[in-house]
Amino acid sequence: MKNNTKPTVEVCFSPSLYAPHHKPADIVVVVDVLRATSAICTAFEHGVERMIPVATIEEARDYKNKGFIVAAERKGSVVEGFDFGNSPFAYMNQNLQGQTVVLTTTNGTKAIETVRSAETVVIGSLLNLDFLSDWLAKQNKNVLLLASGWQDKFCLEDTICAGAITENLTSTGKFRSEEDSSVAARYLYLSAKDNYFGYLKASSHRRRLRDLNLNEDVKYCLTPNTTNVIPVLDGKYLVNLKQ
Ligand code: MLT
Repeated sequence: MKNNTKPTVEVCFSPSLYAPHHKPADIVVVVDVLRATSAICTAFEHGVERMIPVATIEEARDYKNKGFIVAAERKGSVVEGFDFGNSPFAYMNQNLQGQTVVLTTTNGTKAIETVRSAETVVIGSLLNLDFLSDWLAKQNKNVLLLASGWQDKFCLEDTICAGAITENLTSTGKFRSEEDSSVAARYLYLSAKDNYFGYLKASSHRRRLRDLNLNEDVKYCLTPNTTNVIPVLDGKYLVNLKQ
């Protein structure tokens, strides 16, 4: 295949930069390694049937008042009055098997909201890195990797994961990658890949979670390839992609 006819794989550093990257037919992969998209992958791995991602606490509260199971996180902590937050370990719970869980988080669910108009939206993390990359490689479509960032700013861990997916796809020889953001994400991934935990020592959200005694969550979220789920947006729901 000639290089310029190959599908692209590109990286967007933050939801605030999404508009110029938006192409409706792209597959958009939302990445929030610490911790929203890792928690979502874990939920499906452990038997949650559907999730409803919502951007605001108000929407989450409306669902709660209607009797839904609702998880809410802001700035790393569980929001008062909700069932649990964004720790992946909270989703390893038999009582959630077969259930619908509503989720709102500081950045991850807001990023999902930003890309709702894309034709296909899937959820990426280090946990489903290779399985998701293999699936993306088979679709023969442009892929946009959206790092959820922190409050609309750049963040290291999401960019590294986006760089890992970029590396996986370009190394198949079936994709081209031309944006500087994608080149930078790939370089960051190559520098970090042998020790994500050590590399991310200085990252702002790793520090924030450490101060909340959540280092175990960080270690879990930085362990690649522990699940073969691909959460996909289907209307207002996230479901596990059936293949
Ligand atoms: C987010 O959506 O901003 C994060 O997942 C924050 C967190 O709970 O670590």
